[in-house]
Amino acid sequence: MKTQKAANLSEITLNQKQTWGKGDFNEIARQNIVIAEALVSTVDPHPGQKVLDLACGSGTAALVAARRYCDVTGIDYVPELIDRARLRSEVSGLKAEFLVADVQDLPFPDNCFDVILSVYGVQFAPDQEKAASEMIRVCKPGGKIGLAGPVSEGWSGDFFSANGKYLPPPPPGVKPPSRWGTEQGLNELLGASARSIQSERRKALQYYLSTDHAVEVFSTWFGPTLRALDLIDDHQKENLLNDLKEVFERYNRADDGTAIVENTYMETIVDL
Ligand SMILES: C[S@@+](CC[C@H](N)C(=O)[O-])C[C@H]1O[C@@H](n2cnc3c(N)ncnc32)[C@H](O)[C@@H]1O
Repeated sequence: MKTQKAANLSEITLNQKQTWGKGDFNEIARQNIVIAEALVSTVDPHPGQKVLDLACGSGTAALVAARRYCDVTGIDYVPELIDRARLRSEVSGLKAEFLVADVQDLPFPDNCFDVILSVYGVQFAPDQEKAASEMIRVCKPGGKIGLAGPVSEGWSGDFFSANGKYLPPPPPGVKPPSRWGTEQGLNELLGASARSIQSERRKALQYYLSTDHAVEVFSTWFGPTLRALDLIDDHQKENLLNDLKEVFERYNRADDGTAIVENTYMETIVDL
């Protein structure tokens, strides 16, 4: 039974890795810069501290910490995103190390980072317990974990459920990423090792030329939308794009034809 579960989880991980490898998340990551800036400001890593950015994509949070002269490592399981993170750090003149790795199986010894960060990243791992225990294992006692991720309501919750309607349903037993955005989920995953867990709902704005442009950006570059588009017929494609536009319109705060889309997310600071 246990082996069956492990096999399913590695199959789901492989599937997700292929999904995130589609398109180019770096094109979406510009919208996460404000979230990463806010998270680093709250966690407040000091210069010289060892910081790990989990599921770093093209390195957004890692580079924010690197600007503070932290000793930064970022990991992601999509090699093309790690290449992009290396390029971004090089052209920005920022020092950071980037490695291809899975958040559920970290290639680091115990107790080696002062701070762990993850922006809409670790939350996607299908084995949430393993991802949580890996984070705790590599973080020093007295260290801090800072997470920013989806809650079930608001733009990202609605976007993921609109997109998810066109994907095969998650296998039974796999919990949604938004579990990390609830007090109960955080307590279940991290409570036994934490001295304190503090969460706050925060808002971040995304900027596009229009809601049509927002849909175009996601349907050109965002892996989970590209995966859905690969699986469905032309009629369903039109429905998916309309559904995504409707979500962008619901949260659009601009009245001049552009799109300034309000996202609500959970920022969590865990003291170990
Ligand atoms: C929404 S993107 C966020 C990327 C980045 N943190 C940012 O804010 O720009 C999710 C990222 O998680 C990565 N990811 C998802 N599951 C992962 C896993 N099990 N191990 C490593 N990376 C993972 C994906 O490859 C993708 O880059």
